[in-house]
Amino acid sequence: MHNTYRIITYGCQMNVHESEKIAGMLEEQGYCLAAETETPDVVVLNTCCVRESAETRVLGNLGILKKAKEQHPAMKIVVCGCMTQADGAAQRLQARCPFLHAVLGTHNIYRLPEVLVRPAGKTYIEIGGDTAIREDMPIARTSGINAWVNIMYGCNNFCTYCIVPYVRGRERSRERKHILNDIRRLVQDGYKQITLLGQNVNSYGTDLTEKHSFASLLQEISAIDGKFRVKFMTSHPKDILPETIDAIAQSDKMSHFIHMPAQSGSDRILQSMHRHYTASEYLRKIDMIRNKIPDAGLSGDMMVGFPTETEADFADTMQLTERVRYNNLYTFIYSKRSGTPAAVMDGQVPIAEKKQRIRRLIDLQFTIGNALAAESVGKTYTVLCTEYKNGKCIGETNCGKAVVFAGEQNLVGQFFSVKITQNKNSKLYGERL
Ligand code: SAH
Ligand code: SF4
Ligand code: F3S
Repeated sequence: MHNTYRIITYGCQMNVHESEKIAGMLEEQGYCLAAETETPDVVVLNTCCVRESAETRVLGNLGILKKAKEQHPAMKIVVCGCMTQADGAAQRLQARCPFLHAVLGTHNIYRLPEVLVRPAGKTYIEIGGDTAIREDMPIARTSGINAWVNIMYGCNNFCTYCIVPYVRGRERSRERKHILNDIRRLVQDGYKQITLLGQNVNSYGTDLTEKHSFASLLQEISAIDGKFRVKFMTSHPKDILPETIDAIAQSDKMSHFIHMPAQSGSDRILQSMHRHYTASEYLRKIDMIRNKIPDAGLSGDMMVGFPTETEADFADTMQLTERVRYNNLYTFIYSKRSGTPAAVMDGQVPIAEKKQRIRRLIDLQFTIGNALAAESVGKTYTVLCTEYKNGKCIGETNCGKAVVFAGEQNLVGQFFSVKITQNKNSKLYGERL
């Protein structure tokens, strides 16, 4: 009989990938993934705290796990991830949930195997300490033909609404030899899509003793042999350079899909957010991308209801959204994050106001997304089949559009020319040529 584990992941792709590392460590210790119907021996909650609601969900789940632990007292529950890193959060978790086996911070997760073999009975807390990058973590990948590769950790930007720099620490870039070795191996192992991860990939390498730029990293990755596609996220608009766009345009491996969050269209709000660009500077970068990569697909993040946001500020956000014409827009209602400067700013916007603004923004984006989808009908794209589900192939075009087409499981991982035949409410259907 093997010991079993379950990992519950909240938050962004960084966490999804970190959970693969947690799984890697557990599998190295002989644990197997628990079946859905089974009560696992170890449960790890890999948490997010970017918004209050993310924390509420974790606490809700801990309530359910408490009951499960009452039925199965040997089960060890560990909380890790961003939520543990906020000031005093670990102690609060320990006090509120004394049944936890351990609380491990984002720099301490590699200690999991050692902490798990300790006797049960008290909550072990390990937070903070050495932030050096650990290159020796095993990874149990779970994302099919897509492989996530961290190129950097942490963030230096301190946008005034955001908790990430406080819980993830300062920017630390991985040495490029490690990144390139990882990608070479992944391609040899058959992965077809590599997604580079960092909170601000455009500042890759600036912290290394031997300075490197993101653009030159992309060139070196593109020179690796094999047929595969490379994506990245997230790109901070203030740091995106023409040479990076050139590196994408000149590569046969780089996806033409770029995620570049604007957050707001109002210069006054952008300044208060500490984003370090104006709406027109952002638009100039978008124009540069579209000039160099005419078929670029764009996505972004947009927030409504940041403190003091007026109807006029929101109108600027609507205008920017209309001008950019994003393929996808991730919309957020500003949520107060204690510990960040914006949480104590005057002029918090009433929730009813925030809700009606996000509704209008979502409606606008729906119209834009649908119009863009309609424009792609009749066009042919290079599509990577990423998944086979419900008897259909699902693929992604080189500019990031999802397409459904007929085919079998064995097409997953292959590239095809697909002609778009139909747009149903922004969902694209196509035919393999
Ligand atoms: N590093 C990325 C963003 C990471 S957080 C970047 O700079 O673009 C992902 C998204 O969560 C952000 O883009 C922002 O739109 C949203 N977000 C962060 N803090 C938030 C808060 N307090 N309230 C609402 N949305 C927030
Ligand atoms: Fe947060 Fe800003 Fe850093 Fe993104 S760039 S993680 S929004 S502080
Ligand atoms: Fe990601 Fe949430 Fe942490 S968005 S970096 S998991 S706070």
